[in-house]
Amino acid sequence: MSFDRSLKIAPSILAADFADFGAECRAVQAQGADWVHVDVMDGHFVPNITFGPQMVAALRPHVRTVMDVHLMIAPVDPYIEAFARAGADIITAHVEAGAHIHRTLQAIRATGKKAGVALNPGTGAEAVENLLDMVDLICVMTVNPGFGGQQFIDMSEKVRRLRAMIGDRPVHIEIDGGITVETAPAMARAGADVLVAGSSVFKGGSAADPAPYGEAIRAIRLAAETALPGRVA
Ligand code: DX5
Ligand code: ZN
Repeated sequence: MSFDRSLKIAPSILAADFADFGAECRAVQAQGADWVHVDVMDGHFVPNITFGPQMVAALRPHVRTVMDVHLMIAPVDPYIEAFARAGADIITAHVEAGAHIHRTLQAIRATGKKAGVALNPGTGAEAVENLLDMVDLICVMTVNPGFGGQQFIDMSEKVRRLRAMIGDRPVHIEIDGGITVETAPAMARAGADVLVAGSSVFKGGSAADPAPYGEAIRAIRLAAETALPGRVA
């Protein structure tokens, strides 16, 4: 997985059919998804429960792109090894999930996987200032984590600050929550290169009728790319 800052759309399977994840992953990638975003929730760090490493392992053969695993769990450290073995490409932990995010990121990197750090809307960019050389991705939450389909919270200023802090480092900025054709442009302009989109991609289609997934992905990509500096809208 080489680094590039081109715009990537990462559909979140939180909005897919839970009884048919394999087919949903295949469908959304066939329709142009760059990555597949996998939301793990524990009912403790966030008020919702999804699934654990066994589900991630079961999904692995259906994900030929990048499996981007977003851990909304606390504690995180006891489960890193299991998610790495399950086949995650990127493992992202929340800065708010424990007292030792630095140790958590070291542990993720030690598995040979890419390490991500996520920031809730209430957490400032400075929280990752001392972590920039040990992460591959910073996930800026634009909703309070726990559920799909929530109202977007504008974090453009934080994204701009992070983009400046990152400089030339090979670190992705990912936006997670409430991404639509309306909200994507400002995020891309502020410096994000990975846009997670759950409900806006999966609504309207199904694994058996996946064309709407492709239409949604293309529309978000176009809206975001035309907002980039140097592009004509
Ligand atoms: C929220 C999750 C998101 C969520 C985004 O806790 O981390 O990945 O699925 O869903 P939408 O795009 O519906 O806001
Ligand atoms: Zn997520």
